[in-house]
Amino acid sequence: MIESAVVPVAGLGTRLLPATKSQPKEMLPVARKPIVQYVVEELVSNGVRQILFVTGRNKTSIEDHFDNDPELFRALAEANKDDLIEELDFEAMKANFFYTRQRRQQGLGDAVLHAESFAGEKPFVVALGDSILGLNALSRAVARMADVFDSGRASCVIAVEEVPPQETRHYGIVQPAGTAADVFRIANLVEKPAPESAPSNLAIAGRYIFSPVIFDMIRRVQPDRRGEIQLTDAIQFMCEEGRRVIAVKLPPAEKRYDIGNFPSYFESFVEFALADPAYGEGFRRALERILAKAPAAG
Ligand code: UTP
Repeated sequence: MIESAVVPVAGLGTRLLPATKSQPKEMLPVARKPIVQYVVEELVSNGVRQILFVTGRNKTSIEDHFDNDPELFRALAEANKDDLIEELDFEAMKANFFYTRQRRQQGLGDAVLHAESFAGEKPFVVALGDSILGLNALSRAVARMADVFDSGRASCVIAVEEVPPQETRHYGIVQPAGTAADVFRIANLVEKPAPESAPSNLAIAGRYIFSPVIFDMIRRVQPDRRGEIQLTDAIQFMCEEGRRVIAVKLPPAEKRYDIGNFPSYFESFVEFALADPAYGEGFRRALERILAKAPAAG
């Protein structure tokens, strides 16, 4: 079991402007909950007990969200709104939260480097704060990855998922060392390859487990053209050194909902809203009415 996780939430979220002008993209709701709440619930249900958020400017609402709010609780209790009090149960989650700030947004690799003293000598999970695994975050992927990390004597385990071959240039793509079964060793990683040169159609999917050796690897990475330290470059150094970097394939039921761009955000919201136990059916009917009326755009 791996008990520590790092959730980087410091990115500027520019692809979601203006929604992210003054609020973190990780706090945007997908149906009822902010994205980052799904991420934290998934981690806790997979055995994680300590979570470090790497935050930045304009991100204090994330801290507030996971803090107790006695005044709100009192107001709801006085109004006998027990059903709404239940909505705050997540505040009592069995996890300790820690926060540190990435002052300049110098990429995901740099954000992870901020976790060095938090991680200490132990392996830890990295879970992107803008990606949900599985409908309603019902995923056991991180627990499976932790087992693979132990039994495979790995330096790094990465969740991967199949993407349409023509879309490889939007993702970090892995090159399997042999055949790509459900669990396989990675020979190399390629950031955003064109379909002709992509070594597979298996994309890195927002969850990683690292041994602390990753910090030395990140320190070796040179900033890219945009001045960002890429985490994939650091993992590539691990592969080059012959360290064991292993992929765990996500089954379709645990697919990654990436909220970093509008098309994928809209789709995720609709899918989660349709699955809502109370409102899903009514929403489905409303959607059908809208679709019957609206001409397809474009
Ligand atoms: P993205 O690659 O989606 O970058 O980050 P971004 O900066 O948030 O978004 P755009 O490209 O401007 O639209 C993936 C995850 O890594 C975090 C983000 O908060 C997000 O959860 N991240 C990214 C950091 O914590 N720090 C960084 O410097 C970059």
